[in-house]
Amino acid sequence: MQTQVGIIGAGPAGLLLSHLLALHGINSVVLESRSREYVENRVRAGVLEQRTVDLLIQAGLGTRLQQEGMQHHGIELRFSNKAHRINFNELTDGKGITIYGQQEVVKDLISTRLAAGGEIQFNVSAVCLQKIDSENPSIEYTADGVNQNLECDFIAGCDGFHGISRSSIPTNKISSFDRTYPFAWLGVLVNAPPSSDVLIYANSPDGFALHSMRSPTVTRNYIQCSLDDNLDGWPDDRVWQALHSRLETIEGWTLIEGEITEKSITPMRSYVCETMRHGRLFLAGDAAHIVPPTGAKGMNLALSDVSYLSEAINAWYLAGSEEKLINYADNCLRHVWRGEHFSWHMTSLLHKFPSDNQFQARLQIAELEFLSQSNSASTALAENYVGYKFN
Ligand code: APR
Ligand code: PHB
Repeated sequence: MQTQVGIIGAGPAGLLLSHLLALHGINSVVLESRSREYVENRVRAGVLEQRTVDLLIQAGLGTRLQQEGMQHHGIELRFSNKAHRINFNELTDGKGITIYGQQEVVKDLISTRLAAGGEIQFNVSAVCLQKIDSENPSIEYTADGVNQNLECDFIAGCDGFHGISRSSIPTNKISSFDRTYPFAWLGVLVNAPPSSDVLIYANSPDGFALHSMRSPTVTRNYIQCSLDDNLDGWPDDRVWQALHSRLETIEGWTLIEGEITEKSITPMRSYVCETMRHGRLFLAGDAAHIVPPTGAKGMNLALSDVSYLSEAINAWYLAGSEEKLINYADNCLRHVWRGEHFSWHMTSLLHKFPSDNQFQARLQIAELEFLSQSNSASTALAENYVGYKFN
């Protein structure tokens, strides 16, 4: 079997890459280890930057996003029994964010690719990359019990943080940087209307909490928990107790409860593999970098990568030009490191660190007070949140 670009992983990165390449008339095959049902229902983040929304609309993927996505023009910070709004609209010349679940982006991409005759193979196993530093790389895998070999011009490793693509690069060629955090997030999806018209990020003496949403009838809430916590230790009533005490810190505001339909714990980590290319293998999205979710950057960075990659591969087919392929990692990494810094900063500002003494906690409040008063500090947060575009 042959294709032009073999893509590992049907997450947002792999699927959008396949779609953008198809718009340029370039063929690809997407290989995914999970089922279609699994990837379409996996609950993940849900904040799209303005840049990401523009990219999806330009690529013809805006229909449901524009109908069902919830446009937000700010966020609220809660601390010291006060609430402060950061107004993106005013601070960034009318820019904003759109709340639209990652699995909705994935559903739109899968249906668009399949309707256009695109090839996505679900439930594949034993994926193994061959000859990636030659001009004829290939992918060995098993589908329906049959061993296959897919010959390609390029391989795109879009298989997430735990995929096999990054580990196919020789260890001595990898340049990577990381940081772990001494806490995790417990997230719940709830059948209840939002209690606020904006997302609320709370720094409370008991730890961080976030009130987010998916639709007029579904909310998504998170609380900081211990790294070694498991779901058995968090029955619904304990989750509600923590959410109420961390979020209801201002007079007259109550969090609306509802049925919890999903509950999960996610560790927090920052990681960047700067080696985003090895020969004919290109890494994109979580395969190359992850951020803690506090800045809502993960999916946006993944989609930013593949917009650069599709342009670079297109330039190669059109004019035989290697330039954009050579610059691929540098172009992505400027955005990646901006996202890494912002996510680390939001995480440091809002969480309770187990080792903190009161000095550190007071510094957080001092910074939150400054953010509330200073136009330039608020503008910096707003610019980063809606997505900073380097020229
Ligand atoms: N072979 C084939 N597919 C694989 C393999 C493998 N060996 N390993 C992993 N996959 C698949 C996963 O099942 C998943 O569907 O690759 C896909 C990777 O998708 P994501 O993890 O969603 O990564 P990405 O597309 O880069 O999107 C990044 O996802 O984790 C969130 O916060 C993150 O929002 C960000 C986004
Ligand atoms: C979410 O809605 O899942 C969400 C929102 C904002 C974040 C992280 C996650 O910072």
